Amino acid sequence: DVMSTPQSRKFDRILVTGAAGFIGSNFVDHMQSHHPDSEIIALDSLTYAGNMENLATADAGERFTFVRGDISSPTDVQAAFEQYSPDAVINFAAETHVDRSLMDVASFIQTNICGTQVLLDACGKHGVERFVQVSTDEVYGTLGPDGRFTEQSPITPNNPYAATKASADLLVRAAHESYGLDVVITRCSNNFGPRQFPEKLIPLVIANALEDKPLPIYGDGMQVRDWIYVADHCAAIATVLTDGLPGAAYNIGGDHDVANLVVVKAILGILGKPESLIRHVTDRRGHDRRYAMDCAYLQDSLGWAPKHSFEQALQGTVDWYLANADWCESVKSGDYIHYYERMYGNRLRETEDNGSPEPA
Ligand code: NAD
Ligand code: TYD
Repeated sequence: DVMSTPQSRKFDRILVTGAAGFIGSNFVDHMQSHHPDSEIIALDSLTYAGNMENLATADAGERFTFVRGDISSPTDVQAAFEQYSPDAVINFAAETHVDRSLMDVASFIQTNICGTQVLLDACGKHGVERFVQVSTDEVYGTLGPDGRFTEQSPITPNNPYAATKASADLLVRAAHESYGLDVVITRCSNNFGPRQFPEKLIPLVIANALEDKPLPIYGDGMQVRDWIYVADHCAAIATVLTDGLPGAAYNIGGDHDVANLVVVKAILGILGKPESLIRHVTDRRGHDRRYAMDCAYLQDSLGWAPKHSFEQALQGTVDWYLANADWCESVKSGDYIHYYERMYGNRLRETEDNGSPEPA
């Protein structure tokens, strides 16, 4: 591994929670190709967002075990720790979609907050050597027109999802301060890439555009996100796992902060679809205006930097969705149909009579 330094730590058995989701499954792939000596134990309760197909290649590997379990169940977690004695735990498991958290926050509190504490307790009890909490830039709230988030930015979350992730970060910090647990926190910006659930902006736009369906853009579409390719995020987490300072938090970003409309138009360009598919719909409540990351701490202290260009990675992502239409169809069956109607039905119907409303 190019990032390895003489101080890099090695872990024999790594418990990866949320491994059947988007980033978790990409992380398992990263570990199998870059750290093949480590055994991976995947723990996932398989919510609507978790899919065993995401682990198909991983499952073919030798040092891989899947356990179905809920991180907020002390019984499930205890059983997994007793059976597999992990020496490191990486917590990806979470409810992750802001719009769903605005409809019902209960499962977010249960998994993101209670689940994180259950894992911390188990790590303390079983002498786990390192706990990595996969967090988000959303804990910092929103930026004005200038500046970037640093690790010293205040924790001021604005939506229920972000508030639960911020709560988890504080519990992780407290476990370090109170009990000396070896923890690291990563705070990453918006990911994109293969296997992202099509409720998030980029896969939703790809999936809808392919079917010539309207693309619901909240408000004026000028909200800014700092987009990072998922493989770059996974490499950063692996670096922090082996080399991060105990108790530290690290920002991770893609060095590509652009407005949502720029991203949407880039996808339409790749697919050769018309911009007339864009519909400006009622904005998200508490919608953060701008995220942008300052990653100097991670880059300067551990030597990580994103390697993929946005344009090439977006093209690769579109290609993946084109080649995996059956994956998209299967994850969109069931619950997603009801979610889509509840989330977008009225918003899109409102725009039908008068055409797209003028941006705010
Ligand atoms: P995802 O929604 O695709 O996957 C989440 C996974 O967690 C699913 O496999 C689901 O089954 C599992 N899960 C949910 N509740 C669980 C529980 N109680 N017990 C066990 N497993 C459970 O999410 P993602 O986009 O891959 O995000 C992974 C992590 O990265 C999350 O912690 C998220 O907050 C963080 N993050 C995501 C982004 C992003 O842009 N997607 C950016 C920064 C940080
Ligand atoms: P999303 O992918 O939900 O990630 P996050 O809320 O964590 O940033 O949304 C990315 C941006 O795209 C955000 O500004 C909200 C916007 N967005 C839309 O305009 N329309 C949509 O249908 C979705 C899902 C998101």
